[in-house]
Amino acid sequence: MQNKLSVNIGKLKLKNPVMVASGTFGYAEEFKDFIDLKQLGAIVTKTITLKPRQGNPSPRTCETPSGMLNSIGLENPGMEGFIKEKLPALQKIGVPLIISISSEDNPQELVILARQLDKIKTVAAVELNISCPNLQKTKLISQDAHSTYEVVKEVRKVTHKIIITKLSPNVACIADIAQAAESAGSDAVSLINTLPGLCIDVEKRMPKLACVTGGLSGPAVRPVAVRMVWEVFQKVKIPIIGMGGIMNTCDALEFMLAGATAVSIGTANFVNPRTAIEIISGLKKYCQEHNIDSIKKLTGSLKCQN
Ligand SMILES: Cc1cc2nc3c(=O)[nH]c(=O)nc-3n(C[C@H](O)[C@H](O)[C@H](O)COP(=O)(O)O)c2cc1C
Repeated sequence: MQNKLSVNIGKLKLKNPVMVASGTFGYAEEFKDFIDLKQLGAIVTKTITLKPRQGNPSPRTCETPSGMLNSIGLENPGMEGFIKEKLPALQKIGVPLIISISSEDNPQELVILARQLDKIKTVAAVELNISCPNLQKTKLISQDAHSTYEVVKEVRKVTHKIIITKLSPNVACIADIAQAAESAGSDAVSLINTLPGLCIDVEKRMPKLACVTGGLSGPAVRPVAVRMVWEVFQKVKIPIIGMGGIMNTCDALEFMLAGATAVSIGTANFVNPRTAIEIISGLKKYCQEHNIDSIKKLTGSLKCQN
């Protein structure tokens, strides 16, 4: 029987379009007592850098109206630590693994990381996090079409894995950046990463986060993210993985109608660790109720009047 929910991200086939977003699901191990991890379409791991990183000082998160601000700063055990300590359990799950990678100041590190991951059979794809707003940098790679092109092109040379380029919403025209990633050989784009924000404790007259600013995520950013997916969908042919404030099935459907082939669940994991599983069931029900034989047909099926 045909699986109504299956989708393709380039040559990678997913049994359903629901994955979990980088940095919001740890290395999956943390969630194994709450959900059957095997049901997920894919798992995107916390971003890994070449060397271990302690991340930013605390406090690193705070709640905001309909969302949260975080400035974790890519705390991770580094590639060697990841391969030794995290990968063994991850690869037993039996779900496509998408490994998120980043580098603080040297884009060459992304090439080194991608080359290392290319040798690991159980890795399905790499996600290039060139859009983290919490690294105290003045300009991100994904804020410049040329830099995005150059980095993706270099990574493409060293890996046969699926490349997903993760884009920043903090740009004038996200479709231009998506096009640059596509022409450099990216197999897919994922969007959006977080939007920089600032929360202030008025009694202390101090920022709520030690790093002053952080990245905003959650339902507050959803309309921005859906709009960006829709804009990118008009300009590129590669699949889009949409994320930003998805809390339920209806939110996931918004992204798919706007042009996403798959969706990623982020902040919602902290509120209800079962969100992704519930959305998988919800999408199945929606397809049944609307007589849809393949969820692929929903992608970009938004009807605009003009
Ligand atoms: C606490 C936290 C940590 C995150 N860490 C990462 C990360 O390591 N790498 C990355 O690419 N995105 C990271 N993100 C961004 C998410 O993957 C996602 O792009 C963003 O939060 C929007 O989705 P959401 O509103 O559903 O959370 C993080 C987000 C949060 C809330």
